[in-house]
Amino acid sequence: MAAKQKKTSSKSETILNLTAVRRRFPSLKEKVGGVLPAFFDNPGGTQVTGGVIDAIRDYYLHANSNQHGEFHTSHQTDKVIDSARTAMADFLNAPSANSIVFGANMTSLTFAASRAIGKTLTRGDQIIVTHMDHDANIAPWLLIARDHGLKVRWAEFDPATGRLDLEGMQKLITPKTRLIAAGYASNALGTINDVKRIVEMAHSVGAMAYIDAVQYAPHGPINVQELDADFLVCSSYKFFGPHAGILYGKSEHLTNLPVYKVRPSPAASPESWETGTKNHEGIAGIEAAIAHFDWIGETYGQPFSKAVKGYRGRRRTLKLAMTAIREYEKSLSARLLTGLAAIPTVSISGITNLDELEDRVPTVIFTVKGKSPAQVAAELGKKHIYVWDGNYYALEVMQKLGREDHGGMIRVGAAHYNTIQEVDHFLTELEHIAGNGLKVVGGNGKAKPTASTNGKPPAAKKSAPTKPKAKAKAKTAAQTPSKSGKGGAA
Ligand SMILES: Cc1ncc(COP(=O)(O)O)c(C=O)c1O
Repeated sequence: MAAKQKKTSSKSETILNLTAVRRRFPSLKEKVGGVLPAFFDNPGGTQVTGGVIDAIRDYYLHANSNQHGEFHTSHQTDKVIDSARTAMADFLNAPSANSIVFGANMTSLTFAASRAIGKTLTRGDQIIVTHMDHDANIAPWLLIARDHGLKVRWAEFDPATGRLDLEGMQKLITPKTRLIAAGYASNALGTINDVKRIVEMAHSVGAMAYIDAVQYAPHGPINVQELDADFLVCSSYKFFGPHAGILYGKSEHLTNLPVYKVRPSPAASPESWETGTKNHEGIAGIEAAIAHFDWIGETYGQPFSKAVKGYRGRRRTLKLAMTAIREYEKSLSARLLTGLAAIPTVSISGITNLDELEDRVPTVIFTVKGKSPAQVAAELGKKHIYVWDGNYYALEVMQKLGREDHGGMIRVGAAHYNTIQEVDHFLTELEHIAGNGLKVVGGNGKAKPTASTNGKPPAAKKSAPTKPKAKAKAKTAAQTPSKSGKGGAA
């Protein structure tokens, strides 16, 4: 096993040089209690580069002001924001910087968009949401449905495979459908959805597609024009930047939708969508986060040239970067899934087949038999291995998996700065913790799982099979609830 692990590690390290990548993130060098933390809390928020920290400091030193004034610092602020808009447009391959809206976070932007879209809908119109989405791409739509008398239809996911039922979604569509809200990748299951197909389905009846790319953006290339998405939202704190949100909208929507605004603020989009003073220093940091991807593309992108035909300049470099990151992260997913599946008391939900890594990001949810998710996260936390527990606002996912009343699940989420060695460290510690839920029987030193603490029957159904390499097969987690009912952070 050790030799095999070394091979995986050196192969993936030819995609990205992790020593060089990690050097760019100052917080990765900060010891806590004498140890370097392993950050696997990334789906809840990532660490930032030194460039991001410098950009925020520089903004305060040289540009700190409000917009559209007749003096130097205000001009500088305008420049910072314009330049970051262009960077974001390049990152998403948007047709124009004017189709990029900055906001506090994805949730606030989605509430604003839902209110504006809601004003154009009438009683009896239908909208489609999914059980796989983060609540930020569900609740705003449920609320406009309540306010405007709209019908809500729910697309399902299959708990056994962790995949969205697109055939089922197709059947929900009628001439009355006005919007489909769906996620690019699930922040719980890690599944990447076929959003192009979802957009096509919406457009087949003249409906809009609203895509939540918060979870996907740090892991792979996005091309809003190719997707033809009406809206696509993401958050820079999930892709190595500051706490802020970004909304891409087709120009006709940003221009025509009746977005709520104060009267004196600019009437033209995108500024008409940006309520109040923006987070200028954060926006400076967003451009620096994109500059990190630019560096990745320049440094490690060359082998992926064939995959990014048709792009020019920074747009091309950014696509090279995200393709390289995607490839590297597959090795992290593989190691996580194989290692987790080999721990007998661990049950994973979502795609576990190593032949299907193309369809997932390295975000994996699981339970440990006999321990609540909060207990496991706390025990790992004591070792400075940071993972989330709870529902991470993927409320519908946890309900569907039968986990919402049982403390949700543990979520381990890797990013491109995580090493295979960190994954192994996590797995070793988890094995130890999971082992504590085992009872040693007889004198042969062999461990046997203790009965589940809540008296529910043990897992009966297997999830999608893992490759034979993984000694123990992954089990579905829905049947191994714990007692804790805590919800986690997003
Ligand atoms: C998939 C997904 N969508 C939406 C959100 C909400 O993002 P924000 O915190 O920017 O509102 C999150 C946050 O975790 C998320 O993971």
